[in-house]
Amino acid sequence: MKKIALVTGGNSGIGYATAKLLKEKGYEVFISGRDPDRVKQAADTLGVNSIVADMTDPEKIRMLASQFLESGLDVLVNNAGIPKNFSISNLTVDDFSEIFNTNVRGPLLLIKELLPALDKRHGSITTVSSAITEMGKPNLFLYAATKGAVNAFTRSLAIELAPQKIRVNAVAPGITETSIFTKAGMNPEEIAEFKKILEADIPMGSLGRPEEIAQVIVAQVESTYVTGAVWNVDGGVSAV
Ligand SMILES: NC(=O)c1ccc[n+]([C@@H]2O[C@H](COP(=O)([O-])OP(=O)(O)OC[C@H]3O[C@@H](n4cnc5c(N)ncnc54)[C@H](OP(=O)(O)O)[C@@H]3O)[C@@H](O)[C@H]2O)c1
Repeated sequence: MKKIALVTGGNSGIGYATAKLLKEKGYEVFISGRDPDRVKQAADTLGVNSIVADMTDPEKIRMLASQFLESGLDVLVNNAGIPKNFSISNLTVDDFSEIFNTNVRGPLLLIKELLPALDKRHGSITTVSSAITEMGKPNLFLYAATKGAVNAFTRSLAIELAPQKIRVNAVAPGITETSIFTKAGMNPEEIAEFKKILEADIPMGSLGRPEEIAQVIVAQVESTYVTGAVWNVDGGVSAV
């Protein structure tokens, strides 16, 4: 029986690379995203299935999950996420809601709705966290708080769901070459400067590539005895 995998935010960056690798390994892959054109275009290129679902909308999350209730689901990669870069003095309630709803509430609601599907196939859940939880960086406090929440719920859910043989883990990438910087509103010159500064702090000397993160996500979901773990994939940054 072909294994079934869902990758949220699968139309770009780390999610796209993960969907590509899972497809190459023979999984039946579904990617989801919020923009219908972007998701369909990526799915067509990859030769996978696409579903439109905004992770901030609980009803859309319920509909996304409902597509797997009959078949069951082997792999959920909770990858969709957004950064926020501003100082505490500029914090607004709207920003707080947007980033927490995307990075924490969405993944948790999706896990809840998918439980019967994951239960059917003793599935595996990996949520994409971030190495930011191991560092203090100015202007990234809110993003760091969401990923700290991911690490915390990962450990607790792993224990709660172990009796059902559903494994729950996270992968915490360091800075990775994706369009996340552009989406955060940075221009090409700012990005080049930012990368130079960041690279100087990475023991391995270069930013991660989406494929390098995908490799670890897939190793984690394909393991059989790993649960409650947060794996750093950051070129050594969190060891400094
Ligand atoms: N790149 C890094 O340096 C880095 C480092 C550590 C952790 N991460 C984490 O890695 C994950 C993937 O990020 P990435 O770097 O690959 O960035 P990316 O290329 O921007 O990919 C993020 C994906 O999430 C989707 N997404 C965002 N908000 C969504 C929503 N409300 N509903 C559904 N989909 C949504 C995006 O869709 P759109 O195309 O519509 O925006 C996109 O497909 C995120 O959780 C991020 O926090 C990234």
